[in-house]
Amino acid sequence: MKPKTIIEPFKIKSVEPIRFTTREEREKLLINAGYNPFMLHADDVLIDLLTDSGTSAMSSKQWSGIMDGDESYAGSKSFYRFEKAVNNLTGMKYIIPTHQGRAAEKILFFIVGGAGKYFPNNTHFDTTRANIEFTGAEANDLLTEIGKHPEKRANFKGNMDVEKLKDFIKEKGAENIPLCMLTITNNSGGGQPVSMSNIEEVKEVCKQNNIPLFLDSCRFAENAYFIKMREPGYQDKSVLEIAQEMFSYADGATMSAKKDALVNIGGFLALNDEELAMKCRNMLIVTEGFPTYGGLAGRDLEAVAQGLEEVVEEHYLQYRIKSVEYLGNRLVDAGVPIIEPPGGHAIYIDAKRFLPDVPPDKYPGQSIVCELYLEGGIRSVEIGSVMFGKYDKNRKLIPAMMELVRLAIPRRVYTQSHIDYLIEVIIEVFHNRKNLKGYKITYEAPILRHFTARFEPLG
Ligand code: F0G
Repeated sequence: MKPKTIIEPFKIKSVEPIRFTTREEREKLLINAGYNPFMLHADDVLIDLLTDSGTSAMSSKQWSGIMDGDESYAGSKSFYRFEKAVNNLTGMKYIIPTHQGRAAEKILFFIVGGAGKYFPNNTHFDTTRANIEFTGAEANDLLTEIGKHPEKRANFKGNMDVEKLKDFIKEKGAENIPLCMLTITNNSGGGQPVSMSNIEEVKEVCKQNNIPLFLDSCRFAENAYFIKMREPGYQDKSVLEIAQEMFSYADGATMSAKKDALVNIGGFLALNDEELAMKCRNMLIVTEGFPTYGGLAGRDLEAVAQGLEEVVEEHYLQYRIKSVEYLGNRLVDAGVPIIEPPGGHAIYIDAKRFLPDVPPDKYPGQSIVCELYLEGGIRSVEIGSVMFGKYDKNRKLIPAMMELVRLAIPRRVYTQSHIDYLIEVIIEVFHNRKNLKGYKITYEAPILRHFTARFEPLG
């Protein structure tokens, strides 16, 4: 029997119109935005793939949870529902709500970080790295070698290199490593999953050295679904069971609920260590709020609790992973270079191979980002030398390791015809790629320049 089309596992009850613009209008809008789509009004974007963070569509049950939220300052019933949901998932004893992922990171690293400390990860997400470096500590990426090759396919390109971790611990000294982290899925490395056996091996090395293992668990459900699909022995387990097993190896977790809890705002810190939890809660009171709301409204806690139940449903995850894969495979079939295989939450176009004649200092990724907007009203984001480039002492650009364009897919927001349209636009831009000559920067801020930089097209 021929397999049937995988359909969106929901009906649409409430719709939000999107605004169509002409190419001429978009040309003007992009000039006004300094050729930086971060500066566009979202209203002028047809399909917005800037991020999958905080952009999910909530379910009718989440919206009814919003009405049901208990806004008591202390001990709200919504907190206890939230605590139970996070505890059921992570098995951890101390559950601390925060307003988003980086708030959990800030509290954690403020307490365990500091000069002379080292934090290994498969690949730190930017906010994690920033929160670590802000304390004077060092953030180190120990990604497995295959994860650094966009064109090579492998099942678990998000894994940590365990041998490198062992050497790293020997070199830096276990006493200088307050914790080791695994980012699941590995966002900065292309949304690639980490295998259960890698989590287990990393845990074993950490345990031998008395180093706690933490998960940066934003996309835990997508990671668990990849394990179910790709790792022997997990086919018959439920996604929740797999996720619970992943967390069972960890001593703590940070979470941006804006991803796999299907909400627009929220996060948490989950811990097993009582003393650390006490310190974190004290810090939480200073920066976020009382420990039973942590910078969130009671209604947000309800929505997170409900979202954590919905995100592990297999029809949802099948649709989620397959629709991203569908996009990726159609692009590969058309010859468009992407990070392979397709990741969980996003497709990353490899701008180096897409525009081999545009060198990093002419920002090939930015060229593609701008052209996708002009051609089809699509907003994507450059993850390359605009975002990560640095200058040497002669103001010569030190390029990023990769030149990528991320197309992050919001959860439960777009349907297959949106994706088909997107594919048509990308292929059109690919066919006309000879016309893309790169950009130069005309203004940049001293830090995090990608958000506010202004550009001019070359040639
Ligand atoms: N960790 C990872 C792996 C992330 O992808 C993010 C956010 C965070 C931590 C921080 O969470 O935004 O709630 O404070 N990633 C978003 C993105 C911003 O577009 O990839 P936050």
